[in-house]
Amino acid sequence: MKNIDNKEEFLFGGATASYQCEGAWNEDGKAESMWDVYLHKNNYENGDVASDHYHRYKEDIRMMKEGGQNAYRFSIAWPRIIKNLEGEVNEAGIKHYIDVLDECHMQGIEPLVTLYHWDLPQYLEDIGGWLNPATADAFVHYAEVCYKAFDGKINLWTTFNEPKWFTHCGYMAGNYPPEHHNPQEYIQCCYNVMVAHAKAVDLFRKENIKGKIGIVMSTEPMYPIDDKPETLQAVRNADNYANNWVCDPACKGEFPKDMVEKIRSQGFDLSFVKKEDLDVIAKNRVDFLGCNYYGPVFVKANEEGDTCFVTNNSGTRFKGKVINRIKDWYEYTKNPDLPTTAWGTQTYPKGIYELLMNYWERYHTPLYITENGIGLYEDIAPDRIEDDQRIDYMDSHIKEIIHAKNDGVDVRGYFAWSPFDLYSWKNGCEKRYGLIGIDFENGCVRKPKKSYYWYKEAIEKEWK
Ligand code: BG6
Repeated sequence: MKNIDNKEEFLFGGATASYQCEGAWNEDGKAESMWDVYLHKNNYENGDVASDHYHRYKEDIRMMKEGGQNAYRFSIAWPRIIKNLEGEVNEAGIKHYIDVLDECHMQGIEPLVTLYHWDLPQYLEDIGGWLNPATADAFVHYAEVCYKAFDGKINLWTTFNEPKWFTHCGYMAGNYPPEHHNPQEYIQCCYNVMVAHAKAVDLFRKENIKGKIGIVMSTEPMYPIDDKPETLQAVRNADNYANNWVCDPACKGEFPKDMVEKIRSQGFDLSFVKKEDLDVIAKNRVDFLGCNYYGPVFVKANEEGDTCFVTNNSGTRFKGKVINRIKDWYEYTKNPDLPTTAWGTQTYPKGIYELLMNYWERYHTPLYITENGIGLYEDIAPDRIEDDQRIDYMDSHIKEIIHAKNDGVDVRGYFAWSPFDLYSWKNGCEKRYGLIGIDFENGCVRKPKKSYYWYKEAIEKEWK
């Protein structure tokens, strides 16, 4: 059961995102991202230096190789590539990623590259960000520049990381920039993002770019807290809200009909929808789907209380309650029988098996686990960082992935979030996910944790 049948094809690596690890926020002609501006303006902890990966990528990629890994998922920073609204290209940004890609190939590491992991150039945020269809067009231009510059160096491309989270946090919960709370705006942004995605896939195919293209979603498997009919309907609503509006258009070429009906019946304005956009979506299904999984979600019907989101961005210091509720749609709840991390995430390894079975059955599209990991408070001062909780977490989840693979799911890789410590959005650097510790206070010195050595050994010996 533990063994992978066709191991040669399986990728074992780690995943990062440009803003969260690169630092070098104002170097080599990089424009400001919306996160630079937002975090500076509010005086929040920021990613100005982060893991200093921009300068230390060679060391990091070498350590991936030495850690037995054969793949690296990272994102390209749009503001490094395109300088301004006119779409001018920054050659220094292109050169940086060519160097990173060449280093990956030199070390025998397969790159899986994300075009957008939330660091929108500020000059686009200034014209309305994802609310403005011009941002979707700018994304297609940026994608085209990347396709041409990196063609032949990337086999696995993805357009967006987790469309649900940056739109939800930016326009519903309001805990990410631009901090809006507006469902009508949210719906328009989601639409613009999926149109941008489909147009970028369309172009990829028209230009005959080498490799495959997909999208990464924040897979939140939804479980009913009981079997009442209203709970099951709430699960469907929550699944539409969190997952289906991304993976249905990406994998089946259409938005979920019941979701569109519900939105319409609630009086939202859908006059921005254009037939030609829906046609591009219908024509451009992805080659693969990336699934990020951290834990399950338990759902009940929303019986009382208006729409409300309270997020946990401060770990154990967070004294309030986490709330995720949409009036007349659903409400999140907790399963008292499952363990919960210090940051409020419930863990359930079987959830990764169930989501893989479910997505394979629904879409029959090759799958990758593009993120999985556990955020912990950790003291990285000791010589040997004993992160057994991370090892247990990863081990139990990877076993379930292998289980799904052996049960017939076409799952092709696993990316730990993350290969080294990095900046966690709004949680700062104290929420650590890395297999390698980073001493952020002392020159970003790298210190492999016990999990780094465990992962290496398990890849080389146990999962053969
Ligand atoms: C995913 C994102 O949602 O979860 C990452 O793709 C993010 O960018 C990760 O860092 C963990 O979430 P958080 O909020 O704990 O950093």
